[in-house]
Amino acid sequence: MNDTPNDTEGPKPRGALLWLAPLAVSVAVILLVWGAVISANRPEPPAAAPEAPTTTTSATTAPPSGGGGGDAAKGEEIFRGTCAACHGQDAKGIPGLGHDLTNNSFIQGLSDDELVAFIEEGRPADHPDNTTGVAMPPKGGNPTLTEADLRDVVAFLRTLQ
Ligand code: HEC
Repeated sequence: MNDTPNDTEGPKPRGALLWLAPLAVSVAVILLVWGAVISANRPEPPAAAPEAPTTTTSATTAPPSGGGGGDAAKGEEIFRGTCAACHGQDAKGIPGLGHDLTNNSFIQGLSDDELVAFIEEGRPADHPDNTTGVAMPPKGGNPTLTEADLRDVVAFLRTLQ
């Protein structure tokens, strides 16, 4: 029976806490609803961002062959097998034989098609353009070379200019 006075002091602070509890809950509910409204409106701005990376796909570049479609690596092999005998392994020419084909203005002045046609025909020793008195034989003297082979050689010659 004597316990009651002690209990009367307790309920006062507890009553205040009981008041705060529903307040805190309602604030939490309001914040949750508010947060849901904000996040529902939010998806619009991020939607613009993913577009940026897709623009990188247009960065493909053409091969540096000059558009002739030849394979410079295959052309180098053919050059070493057929042309290097007169033009040198480094294509810088051999005195009294083939011209230097690096940084060569004759090559630079012709299109790929014209250059293929030139190599197919060669340049006879009595040709007015001939400066050495030595003939550039048709296809470099290798009749087995196809037009595709010559395109590869031309692609290789382009890499030396
Ligand atoms: C038998 C030797 C010989 C071979 C093999 C040969 N050439 Fe020549 N080439 C010459 C000579 C000689 C000339 C220069 C002729 C002249 O005096 O105008 C020449 C000239 C050229 C020119 C013109 C360069 C210029 O400045 O006028 C090109 C291009 C060329 N050769 C490419 C080739 C290619 C490509 C091959 C291999 C498929 C080849 N040649 C194989 C002897 C040769």
